[in-house]
Amino acid sequence: MFNSKTHRLEKLYQELKNCQKCPLALTRTQVVCGEGNINSNVFLIGLAPGKDEDKKGRMFVGRAGKVLDELLKKASLHRSYFYMSNLIKCMLPNNRPPKKDEIEACTSYLDEEIEIINPDILVPLGFFATKYIFSKYGISCKIEMNSICGKIFFAENKKIMPLHHPASLLYSPNLKSIMERTYIKLKNFL
Ligand code: URA
Repeated sequence: MFNSKTHRLEKLYQELKNCQKCPLALTRTQVVCGEGNINSNVFLIGLAPGKDEDKKGRMFVGRAGKVLDELLKKASLHRSYFYMSNLIKCMLPNNRPPKKDEIEACTSYLDEEIEIINPDILVPLGFFATKYIFSKYGISCKIEMNSICGKIFFAENKKIMPLHHPASLLYSPNLKSIMERTYIKLKNFL
């Protein structure tokens, strides 16, 4: 069908692949588009591709992806259940934080994906994705990940459950049990 989700996403991915809206276009190998179950009710939002994702053009195929799969498995979930996309679609050099201009240049793509997928539940992973989603939906809550992860926030027609970004576990192994518990909260919520 002309206006189907697949058609709209294909058009969006095509546009994304040629994006030159910010200087990250000069340092990326390729844009990493969203992927997964386009009919899912749940949309996971990562931060940005890392080196492995930039090379392979797929989401969460590096170390953070392995952690994500393990956390999901522990909660009896699998990535194939979700649609997922990143806040920033191009690799951030040396895993540095995104700049304000880069976020501003890129988020219209994520907004469009949310509109097309139209999930009930948004799951921003980590600080930057949560900050953006909270501001998009007018939620004024301090973004203190340890206290908001696994909680449900209601906005417009969405439910939002922030979770720690899986890469946090690579830097802070002491977060393991709290992260496992919060990913299980997502499973229980579904
Ligand atoms: N981290 C992310 O946030 N997204 C990816 O696709 C890979 C690593």
